[in-house]
Amino acid sequence: MIELEVPLGDRSYPVLVGSGARHRLLELLPVGVKRVAVVTQASIPVTVDPGVDHRVFTMGEGEHGKDLGTIEDLCRDWAQWGLNRGDCVVAVGGGVVTDTAGFAAAVYHRGIPVVHVATTLLAQIDAAIGGKTGVNLPEGKNLVGSFWQPSAVLCDTEVLGTLPPREYRNGLGEMAKYAFLGVEDLADLPLDEAVAACVRCKAEVVGSDERESGRRAILNYGHTLGHALETAGQYDLRHGEAVAIGLIYAAELARRLGRIDAARVAEHRKVVGGYDLPMTVPPGLDPEQLVDLFTRDKKAVDGITFVLDGPDGVEPLRIDDRKLLLGAFDAVT
Ligand code: GLY
Repeated sequence: MIELEVPLGDRSYPVLVGSGARHRLLELLPVGVKRVAVVTQASIPVTVDPGVDHRVFTMGEGEHGKDLGTIEDLCRDWAQWGLNRGDCVVAVGGGVVTDTAGFAAAVYHRGIPVVHVATTLLAQIDAAIGGKTGVNLPEGKNLVGSFWQPSAVLCDTEVLGTLPPREYRNGLGEMAKYAFLGVEDLADLPLDEAVAACVRCKAEVVGSDERESGRRAILNYGHTLGHALETAGQYDLRHGEAVAIGLIYAAELARRLGRIDAARVAEHRKVVGGYDLPMTVPPGLDPEQLVDLFTRDKKAVDGITFVLDGPDGVEPLRIDDRKLLLGAFDAVT
């Protein structure tokens, strides 16, 4: 078992990565917890035994289940059961579950502890780590939420074998991102070590900038176009697939700005292609509309902030040149 830590002073927490990690739940519950509210979805083929009095609360499937209605349902069910601050929420699932249960835990009784048992590759290397929680509004994804760090995260790599191939590839899109954030030889590592390497990278970034006042934005590499593709395509593309296309686009943008050379763009194509991820925008999506969507990204505080590769590594930069943004689509269509 690989034991890592997200370093946040007295709020630091462990992340366990390895086959069977879910069986270590009891020892990672906060001290004195008497009751556990397990939040999961009917489709998740993973059960946990918290070892204390517990009930299972099942939320709806997909992005549509990740809404304020679910937060109300969970909080009301917990209140009727009598869950209190000395108890704990355990989220068992992918990013939809960890985001939603994490946000419900953040606001219920002004905050109760949550432990994430991440069951998808995407949740293990991204969503469950770092305390971003939230739900969608009809107006957009993740528009309501909070930073609420878990007490522990369990990344059980044994359960990844049960994932449908497309869900697994969804996680590979995020994994490809880490290859450009300084994680070396990722594709050559055994799965446990690859997951751990991504978690280690994310933990270090989160530890240095918990609330994304600067550096944490690098974790959004590939996400500006990625989010626009997801929105414009009504979620036809999975998040990781959209990020994969976004990585190629961002590399091309960086090349056009003279920040990286053609060889580095080719490296992006090699990594993304090596994971069998898409590299072109699906037909029918209009670059003009996609560029308009960049400005609606909730992280676009002042102009469009793009995370771009360069001589000093990946960093967030403001881009105002619409013609440049449109031109770079030539490389991904
Ligand atoms: N998924 C990006 C972050 O956690 O900051």
